[in-house]
Parts: sequence; C-alpha cells; structure tokens
Amino acid sequence: MYIRVLGSAAGGGFPQWNCCGPVSLAAWRGSPTAARGTQSSLAVSADGRRWVLVNASPDIRQQILASDFLHPRPRDGLRSSPIKAVVLTNADVDHVAGLLSLRERQAFSIYASARVLDVLAENSIFGVLDPSVVDRLPMSLDRPVRLADHGSDLGLTIEAFAVPGKVALYLERADAADFGSQAGDTIGLKVGTADGRSFFYVPACARVDEALLARLDGAGLVLFDGTLYRDDEMIRQGLLDKTGRRMGHISIGGDEGSMAALARANIERRVFIHINTSNPVLDTGSAEHRAVREAGWEIAYDGMELDLR
Ligand code: MLT
Ligand code: MN
Repeated sequence: MYIRVLGSAAGGGFPQWNCCGPVSLAAWRGSPTAARGTQSSLAVSADGRRWVLVNASPDIRQQILASDFLHPRPRDGLRSSPIKAVVLTNADVDHVAGLLSLRERQAFSIYASARVLDVLAENSIFGVLDPSVVDRLPMSLDRPVRLADHGSDLGLTIEAFAVPGKVALYLERADAADFGSQAGDTIGLKVGTADGRSFFYVPACARVDEALLARLDGAGLVLFDGTLYRDDEMIRQGLLDKTGRRMGHISIGGDEGSMAALARANIERRVFIHINTSNPVLDTGSAEHRAVREAGWEIAYDGMELDLR
C-alpha cells in the first residue's frame, strides 16, 4: 500500500497566513529547522496508479502540483485524474474545502459519514461537483467498506470509527450540550488492502479512551492528531484565547497527553500529523521535538512516504 502525506499541518497550514508567533516566525524566515507545511491530507493507493485522498485540503492544488503521481496522464485521456475517491474524516474547513478545487466535471467518489454528507448537501457551493459524475457515498461506522469508483474496485478497504471529538467549528451551537456534537462528527479510519496490510489515520481526537487504545494496540502504523504540544500553548504565546480541549484536540505532551496515553499501546510506527502553527515540535531544533522523537514518535512532513509493503 502506498501512503503519502500531502499535507502535514493543521487548519491554516504552517506558517498560518496571519500568524507570527515564535514557531510560525521561524517558518516565515525560512529557517532550515522549520519546514513549511500545507493543510491536512493523505494520498493512499493499492496499486500506485489509482489514488484515494483522505481529506481534501484548501491547499490541494499546491499538493497535486508537488506530487507527480497525482498529475493527469495523456494516456488516460485529455481530461483525467489518478484521484478516484476522496474520504472525509470530518467537515472541518481544512478537510473539505479542497473539494471545490476538484470541480470541472471530473468523475470520482466521495465517502463520508451521514453527518458530513449532510453538511455538503446543505452548502450549495458543493453543487459544483456535478452529482451526475461525482458520487457521494455514506460510510457507516464500524463497518468496513471496499472503496470503489463508479463500480471499479480500488483495492482498499476503510473502516470508520467514532473518536472523541466535536462538530466542526463553524457548525458549533452555543445553546447545545457539547456544542451540538454527535457520534460521527469526528472519525478515525482504518485503511487496509486485500493482502492484509493496514494503518490507522486519526487526524482529530479529543481524548484517548480505552476503546481507542484497544483498537490501536498491535497496529503497524498510526498517524495521530498532533495539533498542539501543550493544551494552553496558543494562550501562552498570545495567539488565541483557546485551549486544545476547547478545539476538540488532545495535546501531545503532559500526563494527560497522547504520548503518555498511547505509550500503553503496542504500535510499531507512530507519527504525529495535523500539526498546528503554534506547536514547537514543528521546529526540529526544539526541546519538544527532541522529546517526541525520544519517545519513539515521528513528525509528519509534506511529501513523507509511509508505504507499507
Ligand atoms: C480543527 O482541526 O480544529 C479545525 O480545522 C479548526 C478550524 O476549522 O480552523
Ligand atoms: Mn483541522
């Protein structure tokens, strides 16, 4: 299975357009220790020819330009693309806005939970994806689905499972419990091939509970929410009056962080992804970067290849 990180950064990218906090500033200045990153997306393929995007980021055009395996090939026709399907893990802007760049009457299939498909249906701008050529397929929780594009099997199976989280920021309801969040608003994915290889992708997660721990135990590869290092880092850096908890993201460090929680799971290769512009792990010279590496974690970067063979 071919697995490529198209975008390693969280919503806003690294550096975020309006941020000059200490971590962002290193990236704006072109520091060799702070490589820039585009917004959260993966490309996965069973055969290296037909690709599935997991989330479609606002930076998708830049990501396609940087990835020759996603370029159209003349032998496939004057209008064609190796992108055959897009799987969505939630309705966050950084995960759905790229769909708008996949217009131009190109056929492909979208897979998402019923909750996320409702968001697309309610926002008429997504009608630019002509329903006569772009399928929108519901993904049930805890039931593996074989991915296909208009009947053509893509050789990949995905299983969606609910993880602790919350509804997308722009859908929050101040008057409702948990801002109106429901199961299926944030999901993790197990992506597998027919020959039994698989990995987990969990780009947003508010808490590592026992169910998630049990699910990830024994995994060969896990890509996990690395949004913040410290719950209050954006407040401390004077950027935004919001904690990671309030945003629905568990932090990496600390006693209640994901590094400590997932140390209890047997995972061969563990990679943080969806990393916010305030997170010091983005600077390879930082103490936090060193701490994460010493704990056996890797930090995703744009173009990272994680193929399982
Ligand atoms: C998130 O991951 O929390 C969202 O992408 C935030 C946002 O929509 O800006
Ligand atoms: Mn996000």
